[in-house]
Amino acid sequence: MRAVVCEGFGDPSVLRAVERPVPGIGAGEVLVRVAAAGVNRPDATQRLGLYPPPPGVTDIPGLDIAGEIVACGAEVGAWRAGDVVCALIPGGGYAEYAAAPAATCLPVPAGLEMRSAAALPEVCFTAWTKLMEAGRLWFGESVLIQGGTSGVGLAAIQMARALRGARVIVTASTAEKRAQAEAFGADAAIDYRVDDWPDQVRKANAGLGVDVILDAQGGDYVPRELALLSEGGRLVLLGAHRGVESTINVRDLIRRRLSIVGSVIRSRTLAEKRAIAKSLVENVWPLLAKGVMRIPVHATFPLERAEDAHWMLERNEQAGKIVLDVR
Ligand SMILES: NC(=O)c1ccc[n+]([C@@H]2O[C@H](COP(=O)([O-])OP(=O)(O)OC[C@H]3O[C@@H](n4cnc5c(N)ncnc54)[C@H](OP(=O)(O)O)[C@@H]3O)[C@@H](O)[C@H]2O)c1
Repeated sequence: MRAVVCEGFGDPSVLRAVERPVPGIGAGEVLVRVAAAGVNRPDATQRLGLYPPPPGVTDIPGLDIAGEIVACGAEVGAWRAGDVVCALIPGGGYAEYAAAPAATCLPVPAGLEMRSAAALPEVCFTAWTKLMEAGRLWFGESVLIQGGTSGVGLAAIQMARALRGARVIVTASTAEKRAQAEAFGADAAIDYRVDDWPDQVRKANAGLGVDVILDAQGGDYVPRELALLSEGGRLVLLGAHRGVESTINVRDLIRRRLSIVGSVIRSRTLAEKRAIAKSLVENVWPLLAKGVMRIPVHATFPLERAEDAHWMLERNEQAGKIVLDVR
């Protein structure tokens, strides 16, 4: 089959189209003929050598796909060859065929094209776990989402609004991206490049601290974010692009009962991912089917042009998802 792999670590030019054997499947897996594959920031982190595939997982990048099941292991429940699915996978999406755990296959919401379906799993699993599990976002609370027009950010805005009636404040770099975040339901969008962004977030929240923050930056953002939380607030860290070390005021953390929670999807157990998939089908898939929620596809590239897709990611041009057309 055709696949794209990283030949070494570095900038997007290390991505190469190659021939690889079609993957075998285990008892709990299905083989999917991939129609479209999502491109996610963690793929770029893997390309840089900073996010290796977990043990036993293929080195082919790609964490979500949409396509048709062409073969099933012995223990895949109700899935059958011919079913059309989107799936969260631990790796291997940049290829014509991918093995997917049956537990993390989801039906394609009615009316969605394959490229739109491929844009869903990684961002929906991520946004759901960060907001609902790690962030424990409750009804009527407020949330700050750093990078509101990332795929994860747009999913989180819509889930927070539709499922918790939350007040949603986001950050984004350009006026165009801030307008897009507001069009997707953010109550306010702030430019994170100005030094007083925390003051602006507080102002946008009626002068109050926020209850939950989702952040993939870490580093020097962490003390500023802790100061911005309301009493009992939760800072959910899902990345550390600005640095892995932060200084925190422990006394303030104790006094105001703040929590810092790290959260990751890829290395979770299959049982945990199965439970998340069930929550998504029950709570989020109806919103997608009704068109109340959508994840926009910013650009698509043929599989062989994965390098161009990654250059676009490096330039941070996308608002929403970049997708590879595989067929
Ligand atoms: N822990 C997990 O399980 C997990 C899973 C998936 C993704 N992630 C992380 O979640 C984030 C979103 O993923 P994605 O694939 O949807 O990403 P993406 O589309 O590549 O978006 C990255 C976002 O980061 C924003 N950003 C860059 N510098 C920033 C700064 N200094 N302050 C605030 N925002 C900044 C960008 O905003 P502008 O475009 O406005 O500059 C952009 O919206 C990524 O950082 C990724 O590493 C974590």
